[in-house]
Amino acid sequence: MSHKRRPASGPKESAPAAEQIRRLKKLYALSMMLSGDPLDVFKSIAQMIGEIFGVSAVCLSEIRGDQLRFLSVYENGAVTLDAGSCPLAVTPCATVEKSKDFRVYDRVTERFPDARFLKDRHAYAYCGSPALGSDGKVLAVTCLLDSKPHEFSDEDRELLRIFGQRIGMEIERRRLLEERERGEREIQKLSRIVEQSPCAIVITDTDGVIEYVSPKFLEVTGYSAQEVIGRTPAILKSGMTPADKYEELWRRITAGHEWRGDLLNRKKSGDLYWARENISPIRDARGEITHFLAIEEDTTEQRRIEDRLRDIQKMEAIGQLAGGMAHDFNNLLTVMMGNLESIIERTQADPRLRAYAESALSSATRAADLTRKLLAVSRRQPLRPETIDAEMLVSDLTGMLQATLRTDIRIRTLIPRGLWQAYADPGQVEAALLNIAMNARDAMPNGGTLTVELANVRLDAAESRKHADARSGDYLMIAVTDTGAGMPPEVAARAFEPFFTTKEPGKGTGLGLSTVHGFARQSGGFAEIETERGAGTTVRIYLPRTVARELAPAGG
Ligand SMILES: Nc1ncnc2c1ncn2[C@@H]1O[C@H](COP(=O)(O)OP(=O)(O)OP(=O)(O)O)[C@@H](O)[C@H]1O
Ligand SMILES: [Mg+2]
Repeated sequence: MSHKRRPASGPKESAPAAEQIRRLKKLYALSMMLSGDPLDVFKSIAQMIGEIFGVSAVCLSEIRGDQLRFLSVYENGAVTLDAGSCPLAVTPCATVEKSKDFRVYDRVTERFPDARFLKDRHAYAYCGSPALGSDGKVLAVTCLLDSKPHEFSDEDRELLRIFGQRIGMEIERRRLLEERERGEREIQKLSRIVEQSPCAIVITDTDGVIEYVSPKFLEVTGYSAQEVIGRTPAILKSGMTPADKYEELWRRITAGHEWRGDLLNRKKSGDLYWARENISPIRDARGEITHFLAIEEDTTEQRRIEDRLRDIQKMEAIGQLAGGMAHDFNNLLTVMMGNLESIIERTQADPRLRAYAESALSSATRAADLTRKLLAVSRRQPLRPETIDAEMLVSDLTGMLQATLRTDIRIRTLIPRGLWQAYADPGQVEAALLNIAMNARDAMPNGGTLTVELANVRLDAAESRKHADARSGDYLMIAVTDTGAGMPPEVAARAFEPFFTTKEPGKGTGLGLSTVHGFARQSGGFAEIETERGAGTTVRIYLPRTVARELAPAGG
């Protein structure tokens, strides 16, 4: 045992009455000390012990792993907080921790030469008093140091035990506080992550009733938090996802598994959006499912781009195939037509034979027309581009259109001043506009208005990305707008596709818009459609601006 210096006669004599009263007062103060900041409590305790025992220093030190951390050190009538640390093993406190009991040493600096805090204070006598936690482990050691021999009576130990209890409580309280703070910081961090996540997050209870939605979810769906909390994600159902998909989802997550998949959902506005979902059960500490967590990403735009890319690739493929055939076919037709013309010349005497030949020639001419369209679609038609004065071209054309279109179709032109000149084949521009106008006519069986608008358009890199396969630059835009039936999305998506038509067999070849598209692309520009079912259609052709003659006076 360590009580080497205890006199054989038993405890030291009681302190005089005044001293007793002083000690009792300190104990009373200790018991009344309010639990404020634990560090303040440590400070007061170190000071009280220093004053009661009249030692040269009191080090109140917490054991943290293999370190001894000095929470408060009382010395020369003053207290220093957070006074550094020291490896526990080299200090006499290690023996206190091991025995969970008081240890008293004299010549302590000699015995523990590696403990700096002893040497610094020229400690001769040491009394280490443990502070136990509720689990019986030593949480802290109060070291009383004196530069001269110091006796510690049983009463002293009793008093130190009382201090030790309070220190133990305070250390536990401090650790709890720290843990709670850490917990709160963690929760704050997590909630910031959830709030700012680029994914929409939904948390429901086990019945699927929504308890939380992230701001991103509100942004995507257009709902407000009040509108969705307390309801189920069924409000997002579009009716476009088969019921068994939801059943499978529900089966998996209630069985404790994760479900991943794509759902076509409906926003508050009624618009549809594609959500890539990752839905998983959340369990409590006992492993029971308490919530479901859905993390969803709006993939509508991504899908749109993918679809668009697929369409472009498909059109390229069809165009190439058709164009390759058309090229050879055209040569064959030239030969056939030449021969038919010779035959017609030599069948003056035989009207019946001549009629056959003429009918064959007329079919061959139509076939040649078709092949020309195919060449246009595949961007292989011979073009004769020149600088064009679009204003003049459009005026000529509208005159012609007025004569060809039905009288119930009004034609309007919007032509601003200072238009740029474009570089393109004028004959083909005219053909393209005619094509678009014929479509507009078909879309307005009960009459309407056809608007032809010209404009200068400058596309920067960011702007050009908004238009399918457009490059940045200056363009002259020709827009033709009708007030007709418009197109449903599935038709609009395919309108530029060669051979795509919604018209009855024999009425349309489905090559009109695809030749427009092919021509615009071949000319260094592009074409696009803006349409909505029931709300009319605008087809825009963008032709590259003439660069060389930029400074020439405008043609009108
Ligand atoms: N202005 C429009 N309004 C409504 N739908 C249109 C309009 N323009 C084109 N469409 C739709 O796009 C389809 C494709 O048009 P496109 O001009 O390529 O072929 P088409 O008109 O059917 O046949 P073709 O032009 O060869 O006679 C049309 O069948 C029609 O469904
Ligand atoms: Mg057409």
